[in-house]
Amino acid sequence: MKPVVAVVAGARPNFMKIAPVLRAADDLRPSFDTVLVHTGQHYSPELSDVFFQQLGIRRPDVCLEAGSGTHGQQTARVLEKFEGFLLQRPLPIAAVMVVGDVNSTIAAALAAAKLRIPVIHLEAGLRSFDRTMPEEINRVATDAISDLLLVSEPAGEINLRREGMDESRIRYVGNVMIDTLVHHLSHAAGIDIAPQSGPFALVTLHRPSNVDSPEALGEIVDFLLDIASQVRIVFPVHPRTRNNLEAFGLLDRLRNHAGVDIRLPLGYIENLALMRRATLVLTDSGGIQEESSWLSIPCLTLRENTERPVTVSHGTNTLIGRDFAKASGLVRDILGGNYKKGSPIHGWDGCAAPRAIREIAALIAQL
Ligand code: UD1
Repeated sequence: MKPVVAVVAGARPNFMKIAPVLRAADDLRPSFDTVLVHTGQHYSPELSDVFFQQLGIRRPDVCLEAGSGTHGQQTARVLEKFEGFLLQRPLPIAAVMVVGDVNSTIAAALAAAKLRIPVIHLEAGLRSFDRTMPEEINRVATDAISDLLLVSEPAGEINLRREGMDESRIRYVGNVMIDTLVHHLSHAAGIDIAPQSGPFALVTLHRPSNVDSPEALGEIVDFLLDIASQVRIVFPVHPRTRNNLEAFGLLDRLRNHAGVDIRLPLGYIENLALMRRATLVLTDSGGIQEESSWLSIPCLTLRENTERPVTVSHGTNTLIGRDFAKASGLVRDILGGNYKKGSPIHGWDGCAAPRAIREIAALIAQL
């Protein structure tokens, strides 16, 4: 029997990272099998099921049903349930692969590391250097206890070396999110859900720093209404953001503006279909900074920092933080065709997942 690697996913941004890895494992038939664990951090159909269907991810072998809660509750629930899964198995798991930076990532890594099961972190080394972001704590802690660090962009290697990680643990494989994008681009190109005519801005927002306080979210709504006078806005709203827009009495201000098109959260294919046609993207998502860079779509990021600096240096991303005057100027530049186009990024070539599989196979061979 082959050794088994547990592949763990829990929240929306994880699903587009595991999809190409599982597909590459099917194609390459490596020296290990996989078992797919869904932690249940995201459970709503529009944040989870639709990604499994559209990305062709098989049904999870195990569902931990951790659900929502405070960071401590959510992380603790995944930790306890995943440890239970690892201990219950008749045959031991040879290694655990975690992806990205969500609470499920650190929780599963911690459970495995304490049981001395090797941990593989896919998308290792990203740093915003901003510990007010829960994801930054998850990144730093996960990398510290991982045995194999699979890196997606050049800054990742630099950060890991600076933190003193042993060179033998670091492998540059490139960006698996781009594998998913490349794989589904032609399908998305066949779907037309963009506004009928004219330029439009695709907006996505869900970071606590932008959406959890009435002041921060109110300022962003004012900015969006200002932008909407220049360019139509299409805004698929994350559940966290929708809850807060309603609680702070801001949702109707957006809804009542003729230039703002409020939508439910989109599936992967619909989001890609919109993004590839968008004139610009306004976002606080990590993945969308990468996807828009690859697509050469201008991206204005409503954050003070990014853990994905290559999207600024080589891609189409500009950090605008809360400088809405700068952002308005950039929107004018973009609409006038005066904005950087970006250039190709090393390893963002649609073949990162097969490289990751080969690195995992090499690790398993050494055990
Ligand atoms: C999480 C990740 C974030 C990622 C984002 C993508 C952490 C710390 N954060 O943030 O890095 O970018 O996912 O969405 O792991 N909710 C639902 N349905 C669900 C899940 C959540 O309605 O299936 C609502 C609940 O009200 C919940 C809130 O969204 O309390 C926040 O969910 P949570 O998983 O805690 O964090 P996200 O903001 O989604």
